[in-house]
Amino acid sequence: MDDAMFNLAQQAMAKAYAPYSKFRVGAVVRGESGALYAGCNVENAAFPEGCCAEAAAISQLVMAGEEKLIEAAVIGTGDALVTPCGGCRQRLREFADAATPIHVCGPEGLRRSFTLGELLPFSFGPEHVRPGRDE
Ligand code: THU
Repeated sequence: MDDAMFNLAQQAMAKAYAPYSKFRVGAVVRGESGALYAGCNVENAAFPEGCCAEAAAISQLVMAGEEKLIEAAVIGTGDALVTPCGGCRQRLREFADAATPIHVCGPEGLRRSFTLGELLPFSFGPEHVRPGRDE
């Protein structure tokens, strides 16, 4: 994870809309092109309708016309590692593979890097549903 990725994740976290949990999260994904796409969590008064930071970042990647992510970073506060939630592990899986690095950060910087395979072992992915297809 380079400085640009970390700095963008920090900026995304600062923009989070989290009036209910007060837990701000930023996420950045890097497309195959090398470009970075950021997102923040956006909560809702109807709680289940809130959106995670990773989902927002992935939406930006797709909007830019990219189909793969080669690296992701997530940042949050507190002492615990802010690893992607279960749903976001699966969302990342759609555009990444088991070897893709997922960097977990705190305000001070990188805390720990995982592979997606470590976070979501024996995962189900697009190739299960559409083997051999590339559309
Ligand atoms: N959150 C994320 O944005 N990403 C995660 O992977 C974990 C949780 C958000 C959702 C909610 O707005 C807040 O963090 C507290 O759960």
